[in-house]
Amino acid sequence: MKPRHFLTLRDLSPQELHHLIDRAIALKALKAPYEPLRNKLLGMIFEKASTRTRVSFEAGIVQLGGAAVFLSPRDSQLGRGEPLEDTARVMSRMVDLIVLRTHRHDTVERFAAHSSAPVINGLTDRFHPCQLLADIQTYVEHRGDIRGRKVAWIGDGNNMCQSYINAAVLFDFHLHIACPPGYEPEVQLVAEAGDHVTLGHDPKAAARDADLVVTDVWASMGQEEEQQQRIAAFRDFQVTAALMALAKPDALFMHCLPAHRGEEVAAEVLEGPQSVVWDEAENRLHAQKALMEFLAG
Ligand code: CP
Ligand code: NVA
Repeated sequence: MKPRHFLTLRDLSPQELHHLIDRAIALKALKAPYEPLRNKLLGMIFEKASTRTRVSFEAGIVQLGGAAVFLSPRDSQLGRGEPLEDTARVMSRMVDLIVLRTHRHDTVERFAAHSSAPVINGLTDRFHPCQLLADIQTYVEHRGDIRGRKVAWIGDGNNMCQSYINAAVLFDFHLHIACPPGYEPEVQLVAEAGDHVTLGHDPKAAARDADLVVTDVWASMGQEEEQQQRIAAFRDFQVTAALMALAKPDALFMHCLPAHRGEEVAAEVLEGPQSVVWDEAENRLHAQKALMEFLAG
């Protein structure tokens, strides 16, 4: 039987996604030990840096009764040229779940195609679906159902933005994207999202009457050499207190972190009363426990 994978949000149905969010909230409230994945092993292959994703998966699998094995390119044969397909076939015979953080999205697709264990996308250049589970959980905890709400995406049309496009369709909210010209998300994704997405270049139009304002770094991992050019291009796309004031009075602010105060977000917004970034970061743990329980339970 082919395993279920979680490479993008689209791998799950809206019903399954809603179930995961409910389950994440329930697991967060659980006080007694709960170890449905006892003796299960999570394989982790990370080709990019990580704080939240790594720690939340390692903590999560241990809390569920299992254990994790972490591989960076330096310590596995992948770094010495062993084919990805071979690594997938070998590792998936030994572990019960695999999380992969890498550059190209087709790397996780190729890995999953050869894996007999469920594969989770821990971030690629195109998508970061685990972060969206945590973001939706955080919205629901603070404000209830996100269905029909207006979400403003301010900044780069990157992996987070593209995951928000998928989320807009699957969780049925409206996403208004404001990015500098030349930094739009993929045309095809926007087209497929239909009425769920408005794409523009005006942060004020995006933020106006929004229920949730979200941003992310201007230069993602792998774009370090574009940093200066991006700082210039994104200058007018900082989430400031003035921009937040255009949103609904009870609007929330989210950022997947790490954040750059004074670049994509003003310090007073990140640290201000509308910011829920620390809950959002914590919820990576609970949402991914729900995900691992779903995929390997
Ligand atoms: N938000 C997020 O994925 O953080 P890390 O890069 O620290 O894992
Ligand atoms: N867009 C960022 C997200 C980091 C969690 C990156 O890919 O670096």
